[in-house]
Amino acid sequence: MELAKRRGFLWPSFELYGGASGFYDFGPLGSTLKNKIVEKWREHFVRREDSLEIDSPTLTPEEVLRASGHLEHFVDLMSECGKCGQSFKISELVKERTGLDVEGKPREEVEALLEEKGITCPDCGGRLGKVLEFNTMFRTTIGPGGRKVGYLRPETAQGIFVDFRRLWRHGRERLPLPVAQIGKGYRNEISPRQGMIRLREFTMAELEVFFDPENPTHPSFGKVAGERLRLWRAEDEMKGEERMVEVSAREAVEKGMVCHQLMAYYLALTKRFLMDLGLPEERLRFREQTPGQRAHYSRETWDAEVRTERFGWVEVAGIAYRTDYDLSRHAEASGESLSVVLQPGKRKVVCHVVEPSFGIDRIFYCVLETAYLQGRKGLRFKKELSPLEVGVFPLLRRDGLPEKAREVAELLKQRGFWTEYDEAGSIGRRYARADEVGIPYCVTVDHRTLSDGTVTIRERETARQVRTPLEKLPSVLSSLLKDELRFEEAGTPLEEKEEGEEEEEGEEG
Ligand code: GLY
Repeated sequence: MELAKRRGFLWPSFELYGGASGFYDFGPLGSTLKNKIVEKWREHFVRREDSLEIDSPTLTPEEVLRASGHLEHFVDLMSECGKCGQSFKISELVKERTGLDVEGKPREEVEALLEEKGITCPDCGGRLGKVLEFNTMFRTTIGPGGRKVGYLRPETAQGIFVDFRRLWRHGRERLPLPVAQIGKGYRNEISPRQGMIRLREFTMAELEVFFDPENPTHPSFGKVAGERLRLWRAEDEMKGEERMVEVSAREAVEKGMVCHQLMAYYLALTKRFLMDLGLPEERLRFREQTPGQRAHYSRETWDAEVRTERFGWVEVAGIAYRTDYDLSRHAEASGESLSVVLQPGKRKVVCHVVEPSFGIDRIFYCVLETAYLQGRKGLRFKKELSPLEVGVFPLLRRDGLPEKAREVAELLKQRGFWTEYDEAGSIGRRYARADEVGIPYCVTVDHRTLSDGTVTIRERETARQVRTPLEKLPSVLSSLLKDELRFEEAGTPLEEKEEGEEEEEGEEG
């Protein structure tokens, strides 16, 4: 986190005024990294899947969230310390103190458990007050007068459900019909203490996949059927056993571990997406939520979890079978029909929904931590995710080298590379700074560049260098970043002597 703050990845929001917990700012490099993660999600879940993507308001009128069940069910149990006034989320407190899971248990039962176990305030030891239900949506009013109540959305999904009729027509009445939305979601967490992992405002990437309940299959299932899934089933968790079963997506359906093929399809896709971000397979698993942990709209939910050094296993996505809950509730509340007529046979159905929902900020944390653990001298991202892809340095700050290097940097920026120009300090120090933030390739402009039009490219991973003609630089870098070219094929390897001379000369820079 020290490195992340110092090098502009992220820092706590509103620091100037003492901060506010549950909020983080993404700095310049963090914003680029986050955007790249979002783009990867779009590639996997929108572009390749022929999904429709929408962008609806974050502020939502009360009637929508009453119909969706969030007014009634989107609550956490909390208690305030009678002595110091600090508030606590009861399920977290009980888990910490006793290891018990009270998620979804009735208020009275939880209150009795606190008494029985003698649980007091973790900060001052004071007696805890009554256990209360706290709705974690941020409430506000729309327009003057305060009569029209609205909430910051707790999920992007509702914007999709209320648009269903238009989307059905726009999607040419096909099923399964996946609809995506990426944007901010809000939860007024009771006492967020886990940094990036529990935020009050966060970025969600959600896909609502509408399908015929009589045909819960996916036409491309064959492409992912062999994908290995590590599953921790709810029945084992409820017995207190942390037992993983490893099966293919196909076996997960055939053995009845996952409710249907469409669900298994999205579990497999989720795994592929997370691995494409450079997260190691051995740190991934799917945990089935127990009935008490599931959201009010879900019949079956699998959390994709990533093992982190700092926070242990972290849920980064939830894949929920929402049935027809949302469409039926909105149909009932609005008085409008949200059923569709399927051909052939003119069968009238209310579509069911599978929802893969991703927490981008948590994924960001996992990517950053992985880059740190793999980095040795700083961060090591999967190359295409590096917020800076190329560093461009003049060897010296004279003899026309800075002018030429700026020209090279400009060319690379025009060609779409995230490029940093740096002329401050010795060449060794500039390489070290670039290594720290994970820049995979650095290009150095020296006297030879002016005479023969070649530059050196240095690879972060091995510190090896090659000499490449400028005109080939964009295509060579592009292939290197996509791992389509081996580094030794990127140019003429630099002689060790030659390299030594350049480093020495660079020290004057
Ligand atoms: N839409 C999933 C969630 O709110 O967690």
